[in-house]
Amino acid sequence: MIKVSPSILSADFTRLADEVKRLEKHVDMFHVDIMDGHFVPNISYGPIILEAVNRATNLPLEADLMISNPDKYVKAFADAGADIITIHPEADSPLKETLDKIRELGKRAGVSLNPETRLSSIEGVWDKIDHLLLMTVNPGFGGQSFIESVLPKITAAKKLITEQKLGIPIEVDGGINGQTAKLAVKAGADILVAGSYIYKSEDSLKAIESLRK
Ligand code: DX5
Repeated sequence: MIKVSPSILSADFTRLADEVKRLEKHVDMFHVDIMDGHFVPNISYGPIILEAVNRATNLPLEADLMISNPDKYVKAFADAGADIITIHPEADSPLKETLDKIRELGKRAGVSLNPETRLSSIEGVWDKIDHLLLMTVNPGFGGQSFIESVLPKITAAKKLITEQKLGIPIEVDGGINGQTAKLAVKAGADILVAGSYIYKSEDSLKAIESLRK
C-alpha cells in the first residue's frame, strides 16, 4: 500500500494545526522541510514548527534537514518530536556519525539524495539507514516540476534494497501529482511526499486519493 506524506511547506501557516488535522485521517505521516538558506537557497522553519505539528497530530513526523550542519541540530529535532530525521550526504556533517547519532536518540535515520547525487554516495551506510528519500526536484521550494531523469535511480535503489533484503522504504519527493505519482510508484516508490499537489488543490482529500491510485 503506497503511503502518502504531505509536505507542510505548502500549507496555510495562518492555520497550521487545521491544515494538519484535516488531513491526518487520510495520510500516513507528515513531511517537515527544514531549510537554512545555505544548503538550499530558501529558509523555511526550525524545531519550533515541527514541535507545533507534533502537538497537532500523533502521526509520524519526518524532519528533512536540508541544512549545512545537520549533526548540530539532530537532537533539537528529536526533542521537538521528529520520528524520522533525514540528512543529506552532500551536507558538511560526517554522514555515518550523524546517522548513528539519530539512532542513538531512538529515531529512525533517513538519507536524502538530490537529483544529481548518485546512489554510490551512500555505499557504506546502507546498514545505518531506515529511510531513503530520493528528491525529484532540486530542494528548496515547493511547486517545482518532477525531474524524470531520477526515475532510473529509484529503480536501481529498489533493486538493491530488494536484492539485499534491506527493508528500507523509498520516499520520492518533489513535483508529485496524479501523473508523476504513477511514474514514481512504477519505479519503486513506497512513500510519496507531496506539498503543493495536496495543499494547493481545490480538494486535498481527492488529491490524496489520486496519489494512492
Ligand atoms: C522541496 C521540498 C519538498 C517540497 C515538495 O525542497 O523538499 O518536500 O515541499 O513540494 P512539491 O510537492 O510542491 O514539489
